[in-house]
Amino acid sequence: VIEPSGIDHVGIAVTDLEASVERYRGLLGREPVHRERVESQGVEEALFAVGGSYVQLLGALGPDTPVGRFLASRGPGMHHLAYRVDDLVVALERLRDDGVRLIDAEPRPGSRGTLIAFVHPASTGGVLIELVQEATSATRR
Ligand code: CO
Repeated sequence: VIEPSGIDHVGIAVTDLEASVERYRGLLGREPVHRERVESQGVEEALFAVGGSYVQLLGALGPDTPVGRFLASRGPGMHHLAYRVDDLVVALERLRDDGVRLIDAEPRPGSRGTLIAFVHPASTGGVLIELVQEATSATRR
């Protein structure tokens, strides 16, 4: 079980990040609250706050990146759903005990100082799921 405390964000793969930021600025009627280039994931992101959650626009840093390959095979659109958890290590242990297939066995750094891990879509009915532990709730281990 994940036992999420909320939806952290919905990730949307885009082919042109600047054009998509313009589109979402108009669609949502607000400015992005955060921009970040995450080299380790091969993405550049823009976050729009919606309530306590975000819409995350994801541009690929190259064709041979996870989002680049997604865009090549499926085109732009919804990429993943991210749940917020209080303790990512505990959540991963519980999922492993449940026999859920994980992409990331251990937490890794995400944007905004978060810790993240991905769950394989084969275990979730075809949805790529990301778990996010906010920097503010980081537990010292
Ligand atoms: Co994400």
